[in-house]
Amino acid sequence: MKAVILVGGEGTRLRPLTCNTVKAMVPVLNRPFLEHMICYLRSYEIRDIILTLCHLPDSIRSYFGDGSKFGVKLTYIVEESPLGTAGAVKNAQRYLDEPFFILNGDIFTDLDLGAMLAFYKQTRAKVSIALTPVENPTIYGVVETDAQGRVRHFIEKPAWGEVTTNLINAGIYLLNPEVLSGVPQDTHFMFEHHLFPQLLDKGESIYGYSSEAYWIDIGTPEKYLKLHHDLLKRYDEGLTIQYTIHPSAQTEGKVLIGSECHIGPRVRIEGPATLGPGSRIKEGAQISGTVLWRNVRVGRQAILENCIAGDNCFIGSGSFIPQGSVLGDNVVIESKSNLPPSSRIWPGTKVVKH
Ligand code: GTP
Repeated sequence: MKAVILVGGEGTRLRPLTCNTVKAMVPVLNRPFLEHMICYLRSYEIRDIILTLCHLPDSIRSYFGDGSKFGVKLTYIVEESPLGTAGAVKNAQRYLDEPFFILNGDIFTDLDLGAMLAFYKQTRAKVSIALTPVENPTIYGVVETDAQGRVRHFIEKPAWGEVTTNLINAGIYLLNPEVLSGVPQDTHFMFEHHLFPQLLDKGESIYGYSSEAYWIDIGTPEKYLKLHHDLLKRYDEGLTIQYTIHPSAQTEGKVLIGSECHIGPRVRIEGPATLGPGSRIKEGAQISGTVLWRNVRVGRQAILENCIAGDNCFIGSGSFIPQGSVLGDNVVIESKSNLPPSSRIWPGTKVVKH
């Protein structure tokens, strides 16, 4: 079977992390996010994968090449301007002549694609949509089905009084290529807002495949950090690491340390936490629940709590980077600075102490 992964979006909600790095390439456990998705598809023997790109396509191509290093065959289709989720797949139509999977390129899940395929074989629906339950459906588009799973309504951001289901579109579809005839060529067109409601109006069969599988999208920094915490809590494979850690440094919980990191005396790192390759943590610094990208420097006695720092950030000694802060690449924080919680600092900014 083939799969299309949609990786052309700008990832605006994940800024400042996506100012220089396309969302599909942000590191998750020190590997590009898209690599996890490709491994996931490969685990179901789906090895013929089409990537629809638009924003910053070159970094994806140069990392993955033809896919052979990752055990898959990759085809790249680049849009000149964003075509939206359905428009992007229409643009790849010449490669698609049998039912195929489509995945939003920002979801991490262990949903059973084999079971979804078996469900499709029972229903023979034109479209099957994976559904996942959420706690607060009022901020999503919910999908109402009958007892057999046939979709009755799509309801965008329902008020609490209108909520009849907590199942939302999980951004994984199994599509019969026939339905692409309803998508205009070279036009911005969305599955969620345009094609699926149109198919429903015409009485075409759309089924929802609901499951309780782990599912998260990395659309925002909060969810990006949560994915790290969730994965590290479940992580029990051997860590591929090569680093220098001072004997008096302490780590507690699951801490993933990239290659060539240096961790100084009396540093304390509390997991779940990830240190990107080449990071250096100086004496007495305290880091908890944090994701550091490559070559981050953390000065003496600095404190970092549940925050994210992009490539090459420099955090001066005695600084406090509190809960929810997100630093883009190459940010410099002057010594003894105290950032307000949930700060968003744009790449290359120098924050002076105040
Ligand atoms: P935001 O700007 O934060 O909304 O992010 P986004 O547009 O990257 O993501 P969104 O959740 O809106 O889109 C879901 C998936 O579809 C993501 O994996 C996007 O990369 C992808 N996507 C969105 N728009 C396009 C598009 O025009 N072309 C292609 N090829 N992919 C798209």
